[in-house]
Amino acid sequence: MAKVNLKGRDFLTLKDFTPEEINYMIDLAADLKARKKAGIAHDTLRGKNVVLIFEKTSTRTRCSFEVAAHDLGMGCTYLDPSGSQIGKKESTADTARVLAGMFEGIEYRGFEQEIVETLAKYSKVPVWNGLTNEYHPTQMLADMLTMRECFGNDLRGLKLTYMGDARYNMGNSLMIVCAKLGINFTACTDHTYFPNDELVAQCKEWAKESGATITLTEDVEEGCKNANVIYTDVWVSMGEPDEVWAERIRVLKPYQVNRKAMEIATKSTGGKTVFMHCLPAYHDQGTGVGRAVYEKFGLSELEVTDEVFESEQSVVFEEAENRMHTIKAVMCATLGGDQ
Ligand code: CP
Ligand code: NVA
Repeated sequence: MAKVNLKGRDFLTLKDFTPEEINYMIDLAADLKARKKAGIAHDTLRGKNVVLIFEKTSTRTRCSFEVAAHDLGMGCTYLDPSGSQIGKKESTADTARVLAGMFEGIEYRGFEQEIVETLAKYSKVPVWNGLTNEYHPTQMLADMLTMRECFGNDLRGLKLTYMGDARYNMGNSLMIVCAKLGINFTACTDHTYFPNDELVAQCKEWAKESGATITLTEDVEEGCKNANVIYTDVWVSMGEPDEVWAERIRVLKPYQVNRKAMEIATKSTGGKTVFMHCLPAYHDQGTGVGRAVYEKFGLSELEVTDEVFESEQSVVFEEAENRMHTIKAVMCATLGGDQ
């Protein structure tokens, strides 16, 4: 394993990490996963404590941090969206200094990236981004580990196509990680949902170094052709108002991941195509939101059809498990548990 020292670093966006550092964290996650499966203890951070601040809800990210902290031998405190003073009765800067005096690491899930950047600025211990409006970097490591498990360790030259709302945390983050790791990234959606110009330009610079390409297209045939990964996410993200559903459905419906999109990809890759989604997903009527949208708009499946979601090509639950192994790697590396 390449020896990279990330001790003391914040983990706020993959923009801040080199390809070598990103690959190191994925290698470490694979190693920690193997150790966990073999029942080999890896509690190298015994005696330390971490705190999780969640201003938005979560299943995967929260559970991943908690299980990973436990496996590494650490204590873990969870602050729910209404359970702390942060932002309401105490500033982010003051909260950072208070928590850094009690804990060895701080996770934050919430709204603007600026908030997690401020936490990091005022905290003397590592801060980890568990999702902001702009980025979701821990999800990227899980997705890359899952892709390695599907296609082998060298991801360079694969094509990942992201369909749907590409201008939010998932689209932005996937474009960044693909650009850094040499994966050809395509955003296949209406032009009003392309990632912003500044980020696209920045990613094109990284892509020059890694050999990746960055493509933005409204054409589903072009977008899906030769895609090894078809990726999507919800059309309305946490914190966005219900009023945007009507417009999202109207504009993004052509970019739903369905049998046709998967067939275009699968035929051109000779079967080497998988479906990915960070989850949670609206693929059936099993959710309150899914049922409400159906009653109002008559659409029973949203960003992905149930058929694709449940198909053999879907690796969404492998991704979900890999959240834990990769979040463990981030904490382990930035707290020095790997040294
Ligand atoms: N993918 C993801 O972040 O899931 P949660 O919202 O459940 O944490
Ligand atoms: N874009 C989604 C991702 C959830 C993991 C959201 O922000 O709600």
